[in-house]
Amino acid sequence: MRLGTFYGIGVGPGYPELLTIKALNRLRSVDVICYPACRPGAGSYALRIVRELVGERAELKGLLFPMEREMERLVPIWKDSVAAIYDDLSAGREVAFITEGDPFFYSTFVYLYDLMRQLHPEVTVAVIPGVSSVMAASVRAGVPLAMADERMAVLPATYEGAFLKEALDRFDTVVFIKVSSVLPKLIALLEEMNLLDRAVMVERCGSAEERLVRDLATLKEERLNYLSLVIVRKEER
Ligand SMILES: C[S@@+](CC[C@H](N)C(=O)[O-])C[C@H]1O[C@@H](n2cnc3c(N)ncnc32)[C@H](O)[C@@H]1O
Repeated sequence: MRLGTFYGIGVGPGYPELLTIKALNRLRSVDVICYPACRPGAGSYALRIVRELVGERAELKGLLFPMEREMERLVPIWKDSVAAIYDDLSAGREVAFITEGDPFFYSTFVYLYDLMRQLHPEVTVAVIPGVSSVMAASVRAGVPLAMADERMAVLPATYEGAFLKEALDRFDTVVFIKVSSVLPKLIALLEEMNLLDRAVMVERCGSAEERLVRDLATLKEERLNYLSLVIVRKEER
């Protein structure tokens, strides 16, 4: 039996129109579309983006990607996912794994990619890039990320405060991802550095629930959705 190809497909930040033609063609031709689910039976943001466009051809399979950080618990779960995908590939089926944004940009797909190549080097793995939330949110907010000789950084806001401050000191634009659990701390730092009015928050960019907030002080008491980021462009244009 010919071994199927494993595709890692970036489906963009939310707007179905930002799916690339290559991603759409592949999603319409594969036999199985796997999507990340934070618990068994849970829905998926990535699946919502493509659901209407892909038709009924492919079997849809949720693969468990719990929202936790303990590698000891996560690795066996990822290995189970790789085993399930490999079963389909061994039966000659083409399998896609969809990921929101870009698959090589802070995406859990990379763990599947590494494990598949390590455990089953005979499998062909093809990755199709997607429009990252960082790119889409900057356009949505009307805040260019970098121009001319400017420098930009992207980092998880979950880093210690000193690292966040260092990035803000050194770079012209800083994009903080994973802000939801640490927003009050980030707001306090931006206040301390006199940068609060240079920040914009974009939540669930590209979805029907999208929200853009320029006055971050109004968010102090809020718990944002996990799919939220903050762009700080230091210089006014
Ligand atoms: C694990 S990273 C995944 C990044 C993704 N691969 C990409 O290219 O956009 C998750 C973080 O990306 C940001 N993010 C992803 N999608 C987003 C969206 N639609 N709107 C706003 N932020 C988003 C959030 O900061 C979130 O905590």
